[in-house]
Amino acid sequence: MKRICIVGISGKLGQYMVEHALARGYEVNGVCRPESVGKLDRFAGRITIHPGRTDDRAVIAKATEGCDGVLVVLAPWGVQDYASGTARAVLDLAPPAARLVFSCGWHISRDGRDRYGWKIRAIVAIGGPILRALRLVDLDDQVRATDLVFASSRDWTVVRGSDLEEGESEGLPVWARHVGDPILASNLTRRTDFALFMVAALTDPALIREAPAITGRNGASVRANAPQVTGAVQARQ
Ligand SMILES: NC(=O)c1ccc[n+]([C@@H]2O[C@H](COP(=O)([O-])OP(=O)(O)OC[C@H]3O[C@@H](n4cnc5c(N)ncnc54)[C@H](OP(=O)(O)O)[C@@H]3O)[C@@H](O)[C@H]2O)c1
Repeated sequence: MKRICIVGISGKLGQYMVEHALARGYEVNGVCRPESVGKLDRFAGRITIHPGRTDDRAVIAKATEGCDGVLVVLAPWGVQDYASGTARAVLDLAPPAARLVFSCGWHISRDGRDRYGWKIRAIVAIGGPILRALRLVDLDDQVRATDLVFASSRDWTVVRGSDLEEGESEGLPVWARHVGDPILASNLTRRTDFALFMVAALTDPALIREAPAITGRNGASVRANAPQVTGAVQARQ
């Protein structure tokens, strides 16, 4: 892995991914809205920014040119298919051999076998329609985006984040194939470690065409269910 592109680079997750990617010695391209370029000033001279909407196909084609990997923040802003347009552009236009890693939340289900607690169900059932009515966020658009990814024959990973918090890194999160696995019950990941998992996925063949649901490795549910966790990503059915 030599050069990567981060689509949605100026957000909180995006900036953490820049730090981890630069620490690995990767050359970093990035796409963000023109009004957000200033948020990346601290990386000036170390990354190449392509200003534009993340669903702008011309911008994605240019920004991902020559990249071995693409990290994509799927954000369902507005009601004009921003997340699914972003996913479609990356799937269609990133170099054929590139590893593609997408972010989303636990509410995304690949096979319908996830078991959700009341909080996520309430957010999706009550918060989703309200946010959409206000034309702020369309949670279904993130579902459409990940459905496009799941149907793709490309080398993708969809990383499903738990609730997030700020703070120092605790190391690589653990993961399971399904929400509802007891190991995930703590449901809390440091945002920097979500980013770490995204960047680590680029070079982890075991994560190709997987949709890992992650949680922080220091959570009580991890200690109770996988006391042997040491440094490797913990895969669970
Ligand atoms: N927040 C959580 O608790 C949580 C939990 C689980 C998973 N996730 C997932 O984690 C990823 C990052 O989420 P985050 O909450 O941490 O946010 P974030 O990293 O700050 O990312 C938000 C992204 O959305 C863009 N954005 C913000 N407002 C926008 C607008 N009006 N129109 C277009 N783009 C806009 C931001 O770009 P600008 O810099 O240009 O504003 C940025 O790229 C997402 O895939 C999310 O589904 C989040």
